[in-house]
Amino acid sequence: MYRSSLTFKGGYIHTIAVRMVKLEIRGLKVYYYTSKGIVKAVDGTNMNTSESVGIVGESGSGKSTLAYAMMRMLQHPARIVEGGIILDGKDLLAMNEREFNEHVRWKKIAMVFQYAMNSLDPVYKVKDQMYEVLRQHGVDAIDDTILVDALRETGLDAGVLEYYPHELSGGMKQRVVIAMALLLKPSVLIADEPTTALDVLVQAQIMNMLKRFKSNGLMIILITHDLSIVAEVVDRVAIMYAGQIVEFNTVDVIFKEAKHPYTQALMSSIPRLKGEKRLSYIKGDPPNPFDYPKGCRFYARCPYAMDKCMQEPPYISIGDGYVRCWLYR
Ligand SMILES: Nc1ncnc2c1ncn2[C@@H]1O[C@H](COP(=O)(O)OP(=O)(O)O)[C@@H](O)[C@H]1O
Ligand code: SF4
Ligand SMILES: [Mg+2]
Repeated sequence: MYRSSLTFKGGYIHTIAVRMVKLEIRGLKVYYYTSKGIVKAVDGTNMNTSESVGIVGESGSGKSTLAYAMMRMLQHPARIVEGGIILDGKDLLAMNEREFNEHVRWKKIAMVFQYAMNSLDPVYKVKDQMYEVLRQHGVDAIDDTILVDALRETGLDAGVLEYYPHELSGGMKQRVVIAMALLLKPSVLIADEPTTALDVLVQAQIMNMLKRFKSNGLMIILITHDLSIVAEVVDRVAIMYAGQIVEFNTVDVIFKEAKHPYTQALMSSIPRLKGEKRLSYIKGDPPNPFDYPKGCRFYARCPYAMDKCMQEPPYISIGDGYVRCWLYR
């Protein structure tokens, strides 16, 4: 079931029911050309999925840059150096800006930006900010129906339209920005650290909501630094380290038999029982993004590092995913 045309006449019920999409990221490189040097924020990233994905990695590993590239919202000094982002066979990076904005941005792929709830404009009501999203994408709504339906998807009622951001709790604000992302009924929803700064209960509610969207057919790309929160929500996990995806596989494989030493280290830092302290931390720091080492980027922190790890690690197929590590060659 896919609604390619949008009808905003009264009585339309907003339900997420989208057809399956296929998303491929092919050899993507996004660099920031700063006055201090080149930051290789995303540096040869590959992923192929028709299921929801969690993108997990430490701060600075390139998760948000990857997301901005998918929305084609990168700003100076960022530049896409090479690679493709292919949605249902169409390379989004090859489209012209007008075509992309008319057909893809917000309509096929939408995003809840990191810290988005803090960027709601304090002087405008929720209603005005939601209408602004529609206006920016050339959609004339004849009444509030589409807004109310999107809010309802996130568990908010129509009354919220008349509120100013300061009248909402953190959890409500986050629901509003999610509702805004749903307005044009995308097939893919990128949520960049959507629960940072929210308390545990609200975090669980937001995650349950994303899980429900996924069950209704929306592809969720959940970005987080916290591996422990993805298992319930997504089907696949991409582990990012220093600008690259080092392991990509199903939730099952990642949680039961992670292959990459970095993924294993992330796993061992998840508390197994409520209240249990995290057992081990990953010692050391990620490499300098201005000067990534030639071979494996995890080398300096890896307990299994060998001489050959000074060379670029190969892609090793594991099921229909992969790991990039010399241990498996
Ligand atoms: N506007 C920018 N200019 C220069 N470097 C940037 C900019 N935005 C991000 N970076 C750098 O790119 C790398 C990846 O950042 P980011 O994509 O935000 O990672 P994450 O979302 O995983 O924390 C980091 O080294 C970061 O400092
Ligand atoms: S390639 Fe070598 S250094 Fe890198 S994660 Fe694998 S074993 Fe460790
Ligand atoms: Mg980020």
